[in-house]
Amino acid sequence: MAKEVARGLNWDFIDTDDEIVRQTGKPIAEIFRQDGEARFRELERETIRKACQQRQTVIAIGGGAIVDPQNYELLTKTGLIVCLEAKPETIYERLFREAACSPETEVRPLLADDNPLERIKQLKASRQPYYANVDWTVHTDNLDISQVAEEVIRGLRKLAEFASPSARSSIDKDIACLVETATQSYPVFVGYGLLDKLGEKMKKAALSGTATIISDENVFSLYGSKVEGILKGAGFAVNSFVVPPSEETKSMDYAIKIYDFLVKHRAERDDIIIALGGGMVGDLAGFVAATFLRGMFWIQVPTSLVAMVDASIGGKVGVNHPEGKNLIGAFYQPNLVLADCETLTTLPQRELTSGWAEVIKHGLILDEGFVQFLESNVSRLTKLEPDLLTRAIARSAAIKAQVVSQDEKEKEGKRTILNYGHTIAHGLEAATQYKRFLHGEAVAIGMMGAAKLSQRLGLLPSAAVERQQALLQKFGLPTVFSGLGLTEITRAMELDKKTKEKAIRWVLLQDIGKVVIRSDVPQQDVLAVLQGLAEP
Ligand SMILES: NC(=O)c1ccc[n+]([C@@H]2O[C@H](COP(=O)([O-])OP(=O)(O)OC[C@H]3O[C@@H](n4cnc5c(N)ncnc54)[C@H](O)[C@@H]3O)[C@@H](O)[C@H]2O)c1
Ligand SMILES: [Zn+2]
Repeated sequence: MAKEVARGLNWDFIDTDDEIVRQTGKPIAEIFRQDGEARFRELERETIRKACQQRQTVIAIGGGAIVDPQNYELLTKTGLIVCLEAKPETIYERLFREAACSPETEVRPLLADDNPLERIKQLKASRQPYYANVDWTVHTDNLDISQVAEEVIRGLRKLAEFASPSARSSIDKDIACLVETATQSYPVFVGYGLLDKLGEKMKKAALSGTATIISDENVFSLYGSKVEGILKGAGFAVNSFVVPPSEETKSMDYAIKIYDFLVKHRAERDDIIIALGGGMVGDLAGFVAATFLRGMFWIQVPTSLVAMVDASIGGKVGVNHPEGKNLIGAFYQPNLVLADCETLTTLPQRELTSGWAEVIKHGLILDEGFVQFLESNVSRLTKLEPDLLTRAIARSAAIKAQVVSQDEKEKEGKRTILNYGHTIAHGLEAATQYKRFLHGEAVAIGMMGAAKLSQRLGLLPSAAVERQQALLQKFGLPTVFSGLGLTEITRAMELDKKTKEKAIRWVLLQDIGKVVIRSDVPQQDVLAVLQGLAEP
């Protein structure tokens, strides 16, 4: 069983009983008989101590081992303890079935008793307080080995979110966060140079078969053959479909072209779509994955900053309609997201700057500490220093993941907070036919509007507004606009699809890191704020 978990995680594996047998050259029953239980426990303690020095290792221990306080302390300090529970009858049946299958293996020494079932009950009862102190428990009575292994791995992934940094990194140091929705739970991997591990991470997620890479010409020319090579090296068959790099590509026309390609290559439901690129590619490829054969596995490999911290997380997929952006789409979560921050070194500067707006937004709405981190590291972050860049992206992605996990389909209203700055941004973008501003630029100006509106309504102190402005400017983002009439913007804002029954739900700030939603904002305040954002 533990071996199965190790295989699933691609970790090493140690069974302490086997290790003791190997070292002493004696079966466990003989050690008990000749040297006594105390000697066995000593050997066991020593074996566990050595095993705990290894990273990424599944250690199988007997049920008696964690009763020893030294073992317990060491195991919790260096890793996570999973208890496989079963009813006494199940344990009895398993042990004796095992013994019947291979008569040469002796029944466990502590159970060599006249009434083994009674003995199992007693042992279990005496150890229960210790079992209650483990990190994760799987009730195994009605599961087969591979289902138990799956449950253990699921637990480890879940615990990775809450574990101390050291325990978390011992599980998988590349996991920045998990997205957990009703339909899917998946890890977001963030790291520098992580593309090399794409095949390995996919295998760990139990994916196999043919991978179809969907990418745009810019990204594919830089990373296409590398990713193809990595996937082939990991045993996947690979096909690639490359589209022009333009928002116009995010359309039904291109979705159909991709369907045709998949039909021609006889893609099956268990095959995998890989979105390699910015948010445009992610939305289009995800839409195809959601709809082809009623849903295929798919993976986001975001290569723009916007895609890493925003578009790749949360499962919104779709294409544009001539009458409006993102009008056709679905919620369809990927199986994993893998962001290699190193790919940002080739992203055009203006795209990069625009992406910082969404990173900053995540701090402004929910995490003042993260805002401080960004303020203190502007120059190192804009120079793309690997370590800091990875930390910023991991944190920002985790904030988005946390919000979408609470409100997958934007029904609870919780996901609305991600629209901070977006009401005015959509107005600016629509009023300029999506040609003048990059999305993040419009969001930066929109966030200034929302902050000033918050101040006007007495929610936010002016110092906070200035602090936000200074941060946006340090990252090279605009905070005002020029050459646009206010009516053009407000008209476009009323058309914004996020408006519900006319009253705009304004996402505002109470403080840096504290968001509020208000639907009672007077139109004249909005106009006054827009006026203030317009440069003469
Ligand atoms: N699904 C969501 O939740 C969500 C959220 C935000 C945005 N979006 C969507 O995402 C799209 C915007 O995403 P975007 O800003 O990534 O735009 P994009 O995908 O158009 O990429 C921007 C440009 O950068 C290039 N590029 C990307 N990565 C590169 C790299 N590593 N090196 C060199 N060039 C690279 C692309 O070829 C493109 O020319 C929009 O369609 C928007 O609607 C979706
Ligand atoms: Zn946005």
